[in-house]
Amino acid sequence: MFPTDFVWGASTAAFQIEGATDVDGRGRSIWDTFCATPGKVLGGDTGEPAADHYRLFREDIALIKELGLGNYRFSIAWPRVQPDGRGPVNQAGLDFYERLVDNLLDQGVRPWPTLYHWDLPQALENAGGWPHRDTALRFADYAAVVHERLGDRVADWSTLNEPWVVAFLGYASGEHAPGRTEPAASLAAVHHLLLGHGLATQVIREQAAGNDAPTRMGIVLNTQTVRPLRDTVADRDAARRIDALRNRIFLDPLHHGRYPADLLRDVAHITDFGFVRPGDLETIQAPLDVMGVNFYNPSLVAGPATDVPRDKRDATGGGDGASPWPGSEDVQFLLSGLPRTGQGWEVDATGLRDLLVRLAADYPRLPLYVTENGAAYEDTVAEDGRVHDPERRQYLEQHIRAAHAALEAGAPLKGYFVWSLLDNLEWAFGYSQRFGIVYVDRATQRRVVKDSGYWYGGVARTGTVG
Ligand code: FCB
Repeated sequence: MFPTDFVWGASTAAFQIEGATDVDGRGRSIWDTFCATPGKVLGGDTGEPAADHYRLFREDIALIKELGLGNYRFSIAWPRVQPDGRGPVNQAGLDFYERLVDNLLDQGVRPWPTLYHWDLPQALENAGGWPHRDTALRFADYAAVVHERLGDRVADWSTLNEPWVVAFLGYASGEHAPGRTEPAASLAAVHHLLLGHGLATQVIREQAAGNDAPTRMGIVLNTQTVRPLRDTVADRDAARRIDALRNRIFLDPLHHGRYPADLLRDVAHITDFGFVRPGDLETIQAPLDVMGVNFYNPSLVAGPATDVPRDKRDATGGGDGASPWPGSEDVQFLLSGLPRTGQGWEVDATGLRDLLVRLAADYPRLPLYVTENGAAYEDTVAEDGRVHDPERRQYLEQHIRAAHAALEAGAPLKGYFVWSLLDNLEWAFGYSQRFGIVYVDRATQRRVVKDSGYWYGGVARTGTVG
């Protein structure tokens, strides 16, 4: 049994569901450009029509309510609000999010907006993107604009979603927009993302001091449980390196105001971190109220010298071509032989329990929320008109039980959001992966609640895993 005030919700992101990329003055984002570049996104899929949520949001909110979920995490598209990422505000874009928030509140669903879920205005990328310091300042301006409009109704703000993905898949491996493969730039992007987070947090707190509404600030990280294959010096060192590049590179500046010394050593041949200016780390260390944790699967790694059979190598962790791990390109990612989701990610819920317990121990007293967790499988509508997805239900059940185990072990876990409410555009995988607890018919946009969705609604309503 979960505590009665435990928060249950579902998550989405603007570019993955909204569609309507060319209406009401929306500017172009790096994901529009990336999708339009041949070979970057599977099937040549684009942000159109996604789940057409820009038009169908009322229907989708009705579904959230019907399922008994009291909380909805979504993201705000910067290019709708500021088409060029700076300067003039597009009121029509802000109006959309105001309608969304008001409708959520009318239906008794608490809004949890994220200000940045990867859709950087293309104009800012043209000016240098996240490796360029000015982007952090522009992000804080944009955050102020959104908070100015919605701050009287929204209490729970996240600045960034998964800055690891933004920096390392966007600027090191190039698997994500904007598709650059520049290791030094990716590390500068990390710093400017964190700086943008800190500046946005500051400005929102200042503005909030002027209104009486409660304000809780957070950031969402895809922190990871990283396990060495064997208890050898080489494998333990591989795990340390990946833990530094995946977890501590964000957690240590946010919580302790410094980058990890071992990380700085590991990447010293790539950059000297000269982009860190006096005062930046104090800004980044601005106190947080909550921390969001996105979890899908743990990583199993081995050192470069370890002889690993080909069938044990995990292509999804290491990637092909350019590496997302500057300075640790030769670490090997392995499969442990557990069942995998439709996307090839191994299912191991112990990774979530261990992660939450570790975060609580190393970064104490900060309320934690699982802000994303879920799985893609090949769903179809059956003859009875329903979507039977026992594997997803099982995945969710195992992970919700693991979250409960972490809670019992003392982790200050306050809530859980499933990824995702709707089938959507899974970034470079296009529409090939269905993560929703609600099925979306691509041709008609008809929604069908999957069996896992009804099951999850029951968990949310009762606080018990039945
Ligand atoms: C996370 C992203 C989210 C979704 C899931 C599957 O990394 O935050 O948008 O793509 O993975």
